[in-house]
Amino acid sequence: MKILLFGARGRLGGAFLRVCTSHTFVTPSREDVDLSDTTSIAKYIESLGSIDFLINTTAYNAVDLAEGDGRKEAEEVNVQIPKNLAEVASAHKIPFLHISTDYVFDGAKQEGYTEAEEPHPLNVYGQTKRDGERAVIQAHPDAMIARVSRLFGLRAASPNAKKDFIEIVKMKQEQQEVMAFFDRETSCPTYVDDVARHVEAHLFSGDQKGVFHLANQGACTWYTWAIEIVKQLGVPAEVVRRTDTPTRAATIPQFTELLSTRLPPMRSWQDALKEYLAQT
Ligand SMILES: NC(=O)c1ccc[n+]([C@@H]2O[C@H](COP(=O)([O-])OP(=O)(O)OC[C@H]3O[C@@H](n4cnc5c(N)ncnc54)[C@H](OP(=O)(O)O)[C@@H]3O)[C@@H](O)[C@H]2O)c1
Repeated sequence: MKILLFGARGRLGGAFLRVCTSHTFVTPSREDVDLSDTTSIAKYIESLGSIDFLINTTAYNAVDLAEGDGRKEAEEVNVQIPKNLAEVASAHKIPFLHISTDYVFDGAKQEGYTEAEEPHPLNVYGQTKRDGERAVIQAHPDAMIARVSRLFGLRAASPNAKKDFIEIVKMKQEQQEVMAFFDRETSCPTYVDDVARHVEAHLFSGDQKGVFHLANQGACTWYTWAIEIVKQLGVPAEVVRRTDTPTRAATIPQFTELLSTRLPPMRSWQDALKEYLAQT
């Protein structure tokens, strides 16, 4: 297939390029196409001849900044851009996959969330991602939305790339810093390569639509995740629980395990972590 991928320099975008090697990807940067303008998107797509599938992994991910100065950009990137892409994809009859997040849920359900649960975001980032989901489905009723959580994997090529949690743990270990993490915010660490593999196996056919939860199985807090990373790395480090009170601008949902009922389960996050660490 010829796949148009927006967000290719991001962590998840990069995984599609690494994993789905039997497909041809077209990967414009933000300088190539103005995603705030449907005419610019349509012209770009028409200039490519035919496109078989469109993926959007672009996002404004700065959860705390979105509560203040970043709000406008979060709305632009997480709502308007997916809406524009969905409109153009629908007009050109192209199957469309958009990526969303576990932060659309309020995190009150300790047992986790299936695709059928009603989202209630607690923060601006979650609200913009939820608004983006709705805008996509409205503009392209056959679109696919994959919710993912707590991504890890090879460093993205983007100059704006944020460190993932594994990079933070490794950096603290190398600098022999005390590793103190909150024993809260239970969610599923998810390997970007596994997401790409699952999408390729189950969604590239384009014959399904709606919301899918794509997360490695199992869930943990930041503290328990750090313990497993250190254990698997086999390095000397002491991980302790942070006892101070979080002072983040955004309210973070406490339990957001993504339960998948529509696709076969992905492997456990511990097994995915093992494969990833063996490669790095
Ligand atoms: N990371 C996580 O833990 C996590 C958790 C839950 C859900 N998600 C969701 O998963 C998806 C992928 O996340 P990720 O971590 O791979 O993101 P990422 O590494 O931050 O990459 C985001 C990409 O979006 C592009 N982008 C941002 N603003 C843009 C704009 N205005 N125009 C064009 N491109 C723009 C960036 O382009 P540049 O390369 O030019 O900067 C970058 O390539 C997102 O939908 C995110 O909400 C992520």
